[in-house]
Amino acid sequence: PTLPETMAEIFARHRGQEGPMLPILHSVMEAFGHIPEGVVPLIAEELNLGRAEVHGVISFYHDFRKEPAGHHLLKICRAEACQAVGANALTERVLSKLGIGWGETTPDGRITVEPVYCLGLCACGPAAMVGNRVIGRADEAKIEEALA
Ligand code: FES
Repeated sequence: PTLPETMAEIFARHRGQEGPMLPILHSVMEAFGHIPEGVVPLIAEELNLGRAEVHGVISFYHDFRKEPAGHHLLKICRAEACQAVGANALTERVLSKLGIGWGETTPDGRITVEPVYCLGLCACGPAAMVGNRVIGRADEAKIEEALA
């Protein structure tokens, strides 16, 4: 299906729903894996909002990615318990090694790094996740192994 067709189907599913913006954006993520730029005017029109408002919501929430993710999605916990046991330093090392920043993808399209806010592994932080695999007491070696 084309982008407008997919969007028409998503809008139909959420029509009449109260506060439909976030559910619509989640459906877009499910359908495309990111929020393609082309959906912004369609959502604005459907919800009778300005494009800037739609952009504002997309930028506000960490869940919404504007570019397709890399082959591997690495999430590192940024919540308090993990920060207290060195998640920030670990993240800095990982990002500088990959040569990217938060939310970015390596130029070869292999790895995207995103923040996550608590993975429920607070007792064995720093916590990270590669795809569906959760990593406790994460360090560079464990992360590299999960990415391999
Ligand atoms: Fe990181 Fe809970 S704070 S897993």
